Amino acid sequence: MRIAMVGSGYVGLVSGTCFADFGHEVVCIDKDPDKIAALQAGRIPIFEPGLAALVADNARQGRLTFTTEMREAVAAADAVFIAVGTPSRRGDGFADLSYVYAAAREIAAALSGYTVVVTKSTVPVGTGDEVERIIREAAPAAEVAVVSNPEFLREGAAIADFKRPDRIVIGADDPRAAQVMSEIYRPLYLNQAPILVTGRRTAELTKYAANAFLATKITFINEIADLCEQVGANVQEVARGIGLDNRIGSKFLHAGPGYGGSCFPKDTLALVKTAQDAGTPVRLVETVVAVNDSRKRAMARKVIAACGGAVRGRTIAVLGLTFKPNTDDMRDAPSLSIIAGLQDAGARVRAYDPEGMEQARPLLPDIHYATDPYDCADGADALVLVTEWDAFRALDFARLRAAMLAPVVVDLRNVYRAEDLARRGFRYTSVGRPSEPAADA
Ligand SMILES: NC(=O)c1ccc[n+]([C@@H]2O[C@H](COP(=O)([O-])OP(=O)(O)OC[C@H]3O[C@@H](n4cnc5c(N)ncnc54)[C@H](O)[C@@H]3O)[C@@H](O)[C@H]2O)c1
Repeated sequence: MRIAMVGSGYVGLVSGTCFADFGHEVVCIDKDPDKIAALQAGRIPIFEPGLAALVADNARQGRLTFTTEMREAVAAADAVFIAVGTPSRRGDGFADLSYVYAAAREIAAALSGYTVVVTKSTVPVGTGDEVERIIREAAPAAEVAVVSNPEFLREGAAIADFKRPDRIVIGADDPRAAQVMSEIYRPLYLNQAPILVTGRRTAELTKYAANAFLATKITFINEIADLCEQVGANVQEVARGIGLDNRIGSKFLHAGPGYGGSCFPKDTLALVKTAQDAGTPVRLVETVVAVNDSRKRAMARKVIAACGGAVRGRTIAVLGLTFKPNTDDMRDAPSLSIIAGLQDAGARVRAYDPEGMEQARPLLPDIHYATDPYDCADGADALVLVTEWDAFRALDFARLRAAMLAPVVVDLRNVYRAEDLARRGFRYTSVGRPSEPAADA
């Protein structure tokens, strides 16, 4: 199959590369000339484990090319995927669909022969109808079907998720288009990945329902963590105790600083808006959004409390800036709100992240960027773990202790053990767990 991928960001680049790896002929298109120049030169603009090698391999074999010019690639394609951004619209939180609609107009101008236009971007229910209307209006003679194929990959594990998905959802009202989509995903049939073919609107809504459910699960355990702190219980044990129940499942039950990232915050907001507009408010999700927003600032207050109630003039070392490990994505990262809260209270912030510092710099211009965790801790009054990169799991705490002014560690990911840190002389605070080591430890 010949595929044109419009938008070569996290989703477009990973999807396009994996489709090429399936054996399809893929052209990845982006309107950002720097991104395309980098890709053509063999440089990968994002950090995603395994991606550089897979891009290089498929580019070398001639199945994967990059361009800023849509016309030729779209004209030759059997399927054109739209994988452009759908950020929150300023003001009301609805998904900003201007990039999707602009892409649809450009695609319409280049269509030739029967083509399936596939929305891979996360888009509110009904967007496929509008994409189809735009294309039919601009190109009345075009033989086209518009399909929804939401993407469920996770940054940091994107290639594995794409190649071994829990499921593939295809919203196609046209049987011929469904056939083209099955051909594209055929390599995954061999792996027996469940493929769910639904109506287009159902597919669109499925993506938001999935993200809202996961965001709810995280927010639920975060509130249980707060309760654990008040009543002397341990949230990790509670999570295990409930997660072993198959009806609940153990994933997404890690208490922490609140969800962030490129998807959950904007997708929960967009679902709330869609539901309000449809006259069927999703009050549970509205509450999740509100609870999660207030949680991020509350984490700054937690750090301040661990420092004795004030941080004015103190130095706080922050380990991890990205919204999760194994990505350089800083979009809506909890670190942004936490650091803002600490700075508002008068703290100086030093930070270190293995991959995210370049992306962080424009968003956090007033902090000191350290060269490693020990440099980060140098002269600090407290060390705060915000993102659980593997590199932070086995730190030399004696060395950190020697570098720091005060022995305070705030672990917002529950990575360390209270007894280990107590033994090394630290005052330790985590999330939803007793701060002091258990008496029998
Ligand atoms: N990032 C994720 O983990 C993830 C997972 C699942 C779904 N999604 C969804 O996928 C979509 C894309 O997300 P992303 O994180 O890849 O975004 P991104 O911002 O990383 O990439 C979008 C790219 O599209 C390009 N673009 C915009 N308009 C264009 C046009 N008209 N022609 C060509 N290129 C154009 C931009 O230059 C940019 O490079 C969003 O709807 C998002 O919600 C993202």
